[in-house]
Amino acid sequence: MTSRDPSLEAFLDAAREAYFHRTNDPRALASLHQAFDALEGVKPQSVRPSQRLPVCQLLRRMGSETLHAPDLTRLMDSFFALEPSLNWARRAGDLTGASENFTDNHANAVIFGKNGLEPRDDVTLGISLVGPDTLYPDHRHKPEETYLVISPGDFRQGHRPWVKVASGDTFYNPSNILHSMRSSTVPILAFWVLWHGA
Ligand SMILES: [Fe+2]
Repeated sequence: MTSRDPSLEAFLDAAREAYFHRTNDPRALASLHQAFDALEGVKPQSVRPSQRLPVCQLLRRMGSETLHAPDLTRLMDSFFALEPSLNWARRAGDLTGASENFTDNHANAVIFGKNGLEPRDDVTLGISLVGPDTLYPDHRHKPEETYLVISPGDFRQGHRPWVKVASGDTFYNPSNILHSMRSSTVPILAFWVLWHGA
């Protein structure tokens, strides 16, 4: 049986704790239970090289000083321990509707899931960094998704009004719903858990 790297296990424990502490939506809870249960099963770690993009320099300004909750502090400490191993990349796929500055002003990294530190098909747990004044393109995907927002921004489903999601809040996207996010003068930093199903 493969055992998981302690820093990856520590991050997973912290993510589980923070997500369940901060989620009330029963749809999100059901999805998260399945995802985190599946993540109990360890898969071999990737040997992909790490990569940072220039926008990742914004991460340096996103320390735990703004997070006054122990679960979020633990989550971000464990995340920053892993961060040098991540392969940050730009969004692949349709960019229709994105702001003009989008390409150089965002980065995504996968921790668990395809192209992640622990590649797997059942769950994706990743993170998005969206620089200031940037609109992420509308997109949709079959897996349901729960964001955990660390640095706040606006989120939208379909063509409904934008909703402000505060630091420490979660936001659930049902399967296949069109969704997007946009930052204000501060970057968005948000984790996402996608449950791909059994
Ligand atoms: Fe999404």
